[in-house]
Amino acid sequence: MTPQDNNLSRRDFLKLGIGALSALAVLEMSGVSLFFMQPRRLAGEFGGVVNAGPADSFPTGSVVEFPDGRFFLIHAPDGGFLAVYSRCTHLGCTISWEADKNHFFCPCHASSFDTNGDVQNPPAPRALDLFAITITEGQVLVDTGSITQRDRFTPDQLTYA
Ligand code: FES
Repeated sequence: MTPQDNNLSRRDFLKLGIGALSALAVLEMSGVSLFFMQPRRLAGEFGGVVNAGPADSFPTGSVVEFPDGRFFLIHAPDGGFLAVYSRCTHLGCTISWEADKNHFFCPCHASSFDTNGDVQNPPAPRALDLFAITITEGQVLVDTGSITQRDRFTPDQLTYA
């Protein structure tokens, strides 16, 4: 083996090493990017299933806000539950519950919604969106990753314990 052969193989070795490190860096960046790009659906947070608590802890006729889950839980007078998205169906502003007026109100263009989420006052074009509810072992579980649009309230949208 001549010294030139040695120089050549050293150069090849360096090229291989740099190539391997580059490939590793690309793989690592791809993995990190994919991790941050995937939707977050953690239990208890918006986008995941939120345990609202025991069904019997909500008096009938009550409306309770869950800010982290971005919904209001409505316990209708007949005992059924509705979970409505706290986003206005007009242009997406956040609504609030005004207990003294017994309605939901959007501050952006003054839409209001009744206790079932039906439009009382436009410009909102349709009722508040719903999240799926299941009641398991007495706990009200609201799936904030599952949004249902609706034109208006119908009794079959209620979930019972
Ligand atoms: S965004 Fe709510 S009324 Fe316009």
